[in-house]
Amino acid sequence: MLGASDTQQVAIERAKAQGVYVITTDNRPDNPGHRLADECYSVSTTDLDGALALAKSCRIDGVISYASDPGALTAAYIAHHLALPGDPLEAVRKAQDKFLLRCEQAKLGHPVPECVLGDDLVGVKRLWASAKKGLVVKPTDRAGSVGVCIFHTPPSWSALMAAIDKAKAVSFHGRAIVEARLVRTGFQFGGDYLVKQGRVLFAAYADQYLFQTPTTQAGLGNLNPSTQPAAVLAEATDQVAALVAALGLSDGVYNTDVCVSDGKVVVLDFGARLGGNWLAEVHRYATGVDLTDLAIRLALGEPLPDLGDWAHARAPRVHAGHLVIHADREGTFQSMAFSAALESVVVKKTVSVRPNQRVSPYRGTPDRLGLLLISSPDREQLLPIYAAPQAHFGLALGLP
Ligand SMILES: Nc1ncnc2c1ncn2[C@@H]1O[C@H](COP(=O)(O)OP(=O)(O)OP(=O)(O)O)[C@@H](O)[C@H]1O
Ligand SMILES: [Mg+2]
Repeated sequence: MLGASDTQQVAIERAKAQGVYVITTDNRPDNPGHRLADECYSVSTTDLDGALALAKSCRIDGVISYASDPGALTAAYIAHHLALPGDPLEAVRKAQDKFLLRCEQAKLGHPVPECVLGDDLVGVKRLWASAKKGLVVKPTDRAGSVGVCIFHTPPSWSALMAAIDKAKAVSFHGRAIVEARLVRTGFQFGGDYLVKQGRVLFAAYADQYLFQTPTTQAGLGNLNPSTQPAAVLAEATDQVAALVAALGLSDGVYNTDVCVSDGKVVVLDFGARLGGNWLAEVHRYATGVDLTDLAIRLALGEPLPDLGDWAHARAPRVHAGHLVIHADREGTFQSMAFSAALESVVVKKTVSVRPNQRVSPYRGTPDRLGLLLISSPDREQLLPIYAAPQAHFGLALGLP
């Protein structure tokens, strides 16, 4: 298992429950998942050859980067070299690169924002001159909104160049993508999919709540079921099925961010892994389908339970969501006291912030203070929490 963070523990637990001997590795020896594993190591999840050498020496039977982008390519690299179950390396490489992904979407005729690589200065200049609704700059290969810069209005040339340089600096391959900013109608939403032999066996959708700063909109929470019309969700699933085939993927779990813009369904982002921050747990609470368990079975090449068994579980049983505990301003963390309304819907919680830690407005995963899984049969109980999360966290912050 590539990664043993607090939100990846659930996969280690599920694998252990299946009777699997679990070996974890990442560059954070203090990560709590290591304590649950049978063996643990400190090779980084992005060290392709280091992780491959470890996998060889451990004679593993399967590899997974659970709900995490940085290790997704490494998992495919290991599976490729050791002939283990998994999608083809080149397919995963394309899926995990925001520019190559856009090229595949465009070839399929799917709606995508106009985009160019940051190093293509002629293309950048053309896009800069034409994009009236602003631009989005992203590293091609990072996640958690790291290095993302959203310009809501056309930026100055120097501001654009600075954003490209920043994105390139945090990109593993030194690459940035520049896109026209799409203006969405209604909620952004996200999907998680189980695909076997190219067929989407299961898709779960959730509305996404985003935290806006002047240059970012990072995901704060997903609430299942999505309120998007069934036809919109069906169109998203159709696009994903076509995209999976075009990329050369066929057997795996995948995750998307989607929006409706200009009347069209646009897959904004795709990952060859499950959604982060316990998203598979959100779907499990809502639908009864355990994508975590299934992802582990896929990684081991085991047969999956019969689809017929899950059909009944497709309609959500309760409303379930996750919520990233976060600050909306600079400060020094003192304490946290949840409201009674929040406390009453919390199903699961992890807190990583420490007293006197400096905190910042939430711009992406590195700013996460903790995570909650919340659930209720009554959506009305959850909506006010997503509408004003700060009022429910009861964060006491000292001066920055
Ligand atoms: N072309 C675009 N137009 C409008 N908004 C965009 C565009 N590209 C990205 N965004 C917004 O920025 C967010 C982050 O972009 P993206 O998902 O590509 O980065 P990421 O690093 O994978 O972040 P995360 O892990 O938060 O999804 C998206 O969820 C979306 O809200
Ligand atoms: Mg994303």
